[in-house]
Amino acid sequence: MISAARESRRSSNVPATVFILDFGAQYSQLIARRTREAHVYCEIVPHDTPWKQLAARSPAAIILTGGPESVLVPNAPAVDPAALESGVPILGICYGMQLVARDLDASLVPLERREYGPAELQVERAQSALFAGVPERSRVWMSHGDSVLRLPSGFNALASTDRCKIAAMGNDERRIYGVQFHPEVVQTEYGKQVLDNFLHRIAGIGDEWRMDSFVDQAIENIRAQVGNAKVICALSGGVDSAVAATLVSRAVGEQLTCIFVDTGLLRKDEANSVLEAFSDVLHLNVVAVDARQRFLERLAGVIDPEEKRIRIGHEFITIFEEQAANIPDVRFLVQGTLYPDVIESKTPQSKAGHKIKSHHNVGGLPEAMLLELVEPLRSLFKDEVRAVGRVLSLPPQIVERQPFPGPGLAVRVLGAVSEERLRIVREADAIVREEIDRAPLEKKPWQYFAVLTPLLSVGVMGDGRTYANLVAVRAITSEDGMTADWARLPESLLERISSRIVNEVAGVNRVAYDITSKPPSTVEWE
Ligand code: XMP
Repeated sequence: MISAARESRRSSNVPATVFILDFGAQYSQLIARRTREAHVYCEIVPHDTPWKQLAARSPAAIILTGGPESVLVPNAPAVDPAALESGVPILGICYGMQLVARDLDASLVPLERREYGPAELQVERAQSALFAGVPERSRVWMSHGDSVLRLPSGFNALASTDRCKIAAMGNDERRIYGVQFHPEVVQTEYGKQVLDNFLHRIAGIGDEWRMDSFVDQAIENIRAQVGNAKVICALSGGVDSAVAATLVSRAVGEQLTCIFVDTGLLRKDEANSVLEAFSDVLHLNVVAVDARQRFLERLAGVIDPEEKRIRIGHEFITIFEEQAANIPDVRFLVQGTLYPDVIESKTPQSKAGHKIKSHHNVGGLPEAMLLELVEPLRSLFKDEVRAVGRVLSLPPQIVERQPFPGPGLAVRVLGAVSEERLRIVREADAIVREEIDRAPLEKKPWQYFAVLTPLLSVGVMGDGRTYANLVAVRAITSEDGMTADWARLPESLLERISSRIVNEVAGVNRVAYDITSKPPSTVEWE
C-alpha cells in the first residue's frame, strides 16, 4: 500500500508529504521547520482534518503535535481514528503520544505536578529505529501534565525519565510511535536525530526536498489563489516583502504592481537604495509614494507603542487602498508576514500564544479592508526566507539585510515621534551599523541598531553643560528573532560607537548598551 502511494507520488512529481496534525501546540511550526531541515516536505493541518482528505494526498507520514489540553477531559481535541488504522507511519509528540495511547486503549494518569523543563532520557530499547544514534542517556525537554501508565497492546516502552516511566513508546510493525518529550526544541539534545530517524529510517522518506521545491510550491499556490486577478504588493524595504514580491511576480508576472511607501521611517539612505534594487535589479513594476508628511501627522503626539503600531498599520493600508483604487480590478494584497509575526500577533489563524505586539503587517488591518491577503511566507522563519531569497537570486544586499520592524524607526524613537527625533535615531543608527559592519568580528550579531530614549541627561562638552538625549545601542544574537541574547561586542568597538555618536550626532550626550536578552525583553524597545 505504501509503495503504491510512493509510486503514484513519483509519477505525479509530488514530493513525499508529511502532514503535521496541529493540536494547538506552541511548537507546531518548529516541528515543520525541523521537518524541512530534514529535507522533507510537510504541511500543517488542523487536527480534525478528516482522514479521507489526507489519504487523498497519499501522506508519507503523520506527526501529531503537542497541545495545551489534557486527553483525559471530555471532548479533548481528537484525531480521525481512521488515521491510526491507515498503515501510514505516525509519530505522536507529547499530547500526540497520549492521544495515540488513549485511542489504542492504553491507560493514562494525570500527574500530580506538571513536569516542565529538562530531564534525562534513558533509552530502554536501543535496537529501536527511533533511537538509532541516540546515546543511552541524553537531555530532553519535557512539558506535560498527563502520563502514559500502561502501554497499548503491541507496543514497547522505548525510553524513560526519572518521573516518566514511558517517555517513548513504539510499535515497529505498525510503525506508530510516541514521544513524551519535545524533539523539535533545541533543548532536546538528540531531538533532530529522533525526528530524522522517524522520517528517514521508519517512514523511509528520502532527504530530497529543498527550498527550490518550496519556491515551486509557493508559486503554484499563488497562481491558484490569485488566478487572473490583479495584485498589489506592499514593499517595505526588508527581505520579507522583497522575497514575497519576487515570488508573486514569478507567479503572476504583469498582474503584480508593487507599491513602495516612503514613510520617512526608514533608515538612512534606505528609501532610494530600496527603490533602485526593486526597479533596476529585480525589474518589479514599482509605484513610489512619498508619504513622509502623512506619517508624521498620524504619529504627532502619540506615545503609546501599540497606538503607534496600529496607526502606522492603518495608514499603510489606507495608502495601499488609495493606490489600489488607481488599478482597476485589483483584488489581492501581498504581505511578507512570517511565522514569528503570526504567533506574536495572535491572529485568528493561530490559537496559541498571548499577544505581545501588534506587528503592523498582521494585527493592524482595518476590519473593512477591501483586499484579500496573499502571504506566501506565513509558515517560514527568517533564515528560511533568506534561503528562499537566495534560490530566487535576490541581490545579497537584500537577502542579507538585517530584520527591520514594519513600523520602522517610529518604534525606535521612544515616546513622541518628530522629524528631529527621527533624524537623531537615523544618524545614530547609521553609525552603529557602519561600525559593526566594518569590525572584524568572528560572527556578526543577528541585528544591531540604535534606539532614541525619551531621557535627557546632563553632560559636559567643551566647557559647557549639556542637557541632551540618551541613545541606547542594541545588538543581539538570535536564530529567528523569537529568542535572543545580547551580543558580547568588543569593548573597543562599543567605545568607537559611543564616541562617534556623541561627537557626530547633534543632540546626544550619552550612549548606553542594552544587556538584556529576549525573554524577558523583546528585541525592539517598543
Ligand atoms: P520583538 O521586538 O518582537 O522583535 O522581539 C522580534 C523581531 O521582529 C522584528 N519586528 C518586526 N517585524 N513587523 C515586522 O515585520 C513588526 O511590526 C515588527 N516588530 C518587530 C524585530 O526587529 C525583531 O527582528
